[in-house]
Amino acid sequence: MISVVCPGSYDPATNGHLDIIERCSRLFDEVVVAVLINKSKKGLFSIDERMAMLREVTAEYGNVRVDSWHGLLVDYCRDNGIPAIAKGLRAVSDFDYELQMSQMNQRLSGVETLFISTNPEYSFLSSSLVKEIATYGGDVSHLVPELIQQRLLDRVAELG
Ligand code: PNS
Repeated sequence: MISVVCPGSYDPATNGHLDIIERCSRLFDEVVVAVLINKSKKGLFSIDERMAMLREVTAEYGNVRVDSWHGLLVDYCRDNGIPAIAKGLRAVSDFDYELQMSQMNQRLSGVETLFISTNPEYSFLSSSLVKEIATYGGDVSHLVPELIQQRLLDRVAELG
């Protein structure tokens, strides 16, 4: 069985993330969506909330599992026997840093990174922009699944 990991902050997941996860689910036996914990970044959603949302929006794919990890991605891959990392590339601006990380991860552990070109429909999309738009009352219905839109609206209302 060949697994791939789709790592990220997922604060929250967007339609762009889901597009990559769905496409990976057709290519691999198993897709592990790993929410990477970055203690220096205060998120809008807790790690548990992000994982719960991801589980709900990926439930329709039979071969997607959601997990979290604090530490190096290569250590997660090693501990879980995962040989490959999948990353979406939205634009050239993503490329430099992604290339650097993929080469470092390859050097650290031999794990391979596969780049998937983002669906052009989502090439402008990021979790940060979605949060900003939602915070100022903009419409994010075409950017995230309905369930995540609702959680965003609830969170923005809670924060006043
Ligand atoms: O959704 P993001 O924030 O763009 O995801 C970036 C992420 C979490 C995939 C990346 O920062 C990462 O892999 N972090 C784990 C820590 C790590 O392995 N760092 C060394 C990278 S060479």
